[in-house]
Amino acid sequence: MENGIKNKVIAITGASSGIGEAIAIQFAQQGAKVVLGARRLDRLKALAEKIIQAGGEASYIITDVKKRGDLQNLVKLACDRYGKLDVMINNAGISHLSLIDKLQVEDWEEMIDVNLKGTLYGIAAALPVFRQQGSGHIINIISTSGLRIVPLQGVYAGTKNAVRTITEALRQEAGPNLRVTGISPGFVQTELADHMKDENIRAAIKQKAAQIAISPNDIAAAVSYAINQPANVDVGDMVIRPTAQD
Ligand SMILES: NC(=O)c1ccc[n+]([C@@H]2O[C@H](COP(=O)([O-])OP(=O)(O)OC[C@H]3O[C@@H](n4cnc5c(N)ncnc54)[C@H](OP(=O)(O)O)[C@@H]3O)[C@@H](O)[C@H]2O)c1
Repeated sequence: MENGIKNKVIAITGASSGIGEAIAIQFAQQGAKVVLGARRLDRLKALAEKIIQAGGEASYIITDVKKRGDLQNLVKLACDRYGKLDVMINNAGISHLSLIDKLQVEDWEEMIDVNLKGTLYGIAAALPVFRQQGSGHIINIISTSGLRIVPLQGVYAGTKNAVRTITEALRQEAGPNLRVTGISPGFVQTELADHMKDENIRAAIKQKAAQIAISPNDIAAAVSYAINQPANVDVGDMVIRPTAQD
């Protein structure tokens, strides 16, 4: 694998907003070819146009990470268009916060489907390509929710910690040619809280985010650090949180 970000082909799930969007913009500016996946086509199109107008390279395809075939199509787009895939960033995620007593079983299932199974589908789509190429880098966006467990976040944190566990196992299994990185952001100013269903929880999280959240660009910089290391240097785990976060 080449060093650096320039000319790398980088697929990003959940690229239509927040951290994924910031990664796409920052990496395209550094000369990567970014392959964008998410469900909102209008947002992907606008982002790709913005990147291309600024002189970068971007492609996009509707990608619902609940559908394994969509991840395969995302990877296929990268390979068909650019001849390879260097980095797969499993970033798509949702956060439905509630007390376990509330039995919001459908929300639990959705978080398992998107955060956990979606990441596994991303790994399953990219890994055969990486093995064939003899190089590749899987980056999973996890969360500090899984590091400091608090009420309301149990199932969300559970999905993230499942990803953390799988990431470490994959790192050990990957061998000398592949890199595997887990990035755990703390509070980041994105649209994540906007999709929370409980009005009171949503308002509380948004208020806290307004006070302490860091920029999605800060997370993109951490991802960039991991990719920018020499090919034989594997950044395993990174935690990036606001200094003010407890
Ligand atoms: N913001 C934080 O404080 C924070 C902290 C720790 C970890 N994280 C993690 O960071 C990641 C990115 O979240 P964010 O904060 O940037 O939030 P965001 O702005 O809401 O972005 C989430 C992205 O995930 C996509 N997504 C949701 N469901 C999807 C599905 N079924 N298929 C494909 N894409 C889907 C959304 O796109 P579409 O709706 O267009 O599909 C969107 O692009 C998530 O994994 C989240 O858990 C965030």
